[in-house]
Amino acid sequence: MRKHKISIIGAGMVGSTTAYLAASKGLGDVVLVDIVEGIPQGKGLDISESTPVLGASVSVKGTNSYDDVKDSDIVVITAGVARKPGMSRDDLLKTNTKIVSSVSEQVKKAAPQAIVIVVSNPLDAMVYVASKVGWAKNRIMGMAGVLDSTRFASFIAEEAKVSVENVHTFVLGGHGDQMIPLTRYSNIAGVPLEQFISKAKLDNIVDRTRKGGIEIVNHLKTGSAYYAPAASICEMMEAIVKDKKKILPCAAYLDGEYGAKGVFIGVPAKLGKDGVEQVIELKLTDSEKKAFDENVKHVKSLMEEV
Ligand code: APR
Repeated sequence: MRKHKISIIGAGMVGSTTAYLAASKGLGDVVLVDIVEGIPQGKGLDISESTPVLGASVSVKGTNSYDDVKDSDIVVITAGVARKPGMSRDDLLKTNTKIVSSVSEQVKKAAPQAIVIVVSNPLDAMVYVASKVGWAKNRIMGMAGVLDSTRFASFIAEEAKVSVENVHTFVLGGHGDQMIPLTRYSNIAGVPLEQFISKAKLDNIVDRTRKGGIEIVNHLKTGSAYYAPAASICEMMEAIVKDKKKILPCAAYLDGEYGAKGVFIGVPAKLGKDGVEQVIELKLTDSEKKAFDENVKHVKSLMEEV
């Protein structure tokens, strides 16, 4: 397999954890970029020094220059501020719009052929902001659905006392409090969730999934989650790098699918070497469709603000 080049913009908690995990999985050579001098260099060197003991034959470099991003196959955008207690993801809109917008312009100049995964919040609106510099719609997407689904799965496995490997979950819609954990499309070893978990407990788990991000912010107090986000980014990158054609929930561009147009939002997407190779349309019940339409409306209102 050809060796890929992965650039990660933002060497904060999510960016550096992603760099470490991507290097340890051998997904490709990693470039870690930040606006602050010294941070990417220090973290990049530290990760690079871990590769011999990890047995990972990849290079890792930290930098402040977009010259090093040239020829990247994948660019992950994590630059921006994270939430503090009391803040919603939408509260980050103004600050992160400026950051993501300037980062995207530089990424576009350095690596116009790359596949871009946006992680900065509010996620669905930030993918739109990044897309404005002109990416083919299949080559830009947001990471949120994999994270929301892994949170959902971890709670289900804990409650049902089964291996996480048996749990398959799916979360649809925007990466906000209105996200739609789809119990109907989730299961334990192919068996409906209701066979293992009571309706009341399942409702609690759905609610906890929706608030999964803020639960961690409230514990940490100084920032937001990064281990599960980094693992989720790597799952998407692995599908692309290995051309797996793996169906994962991600914020993909809709051009009529699900009755929505011109919006990036969480849907099942087939990921392979060309990025989002197909958006999979699920048959939704009336109430699921109504909830999805509300999500689209909310994301569009944020798009108008930016
Ligand atoms: N260019 C490059 N890096 C930047 C820029 C910029 N214009 N502006 C800020 N950064 C960097 C910061 O210097 C910092 O190192 O982005 C990094 C953000 O790191 P953290 O503050 O640790 O935030 P993190 O937890 O990584 O979250 C980053 O991902 O999950 C989302 O909501 C989260 O929007 C947030 C983003």
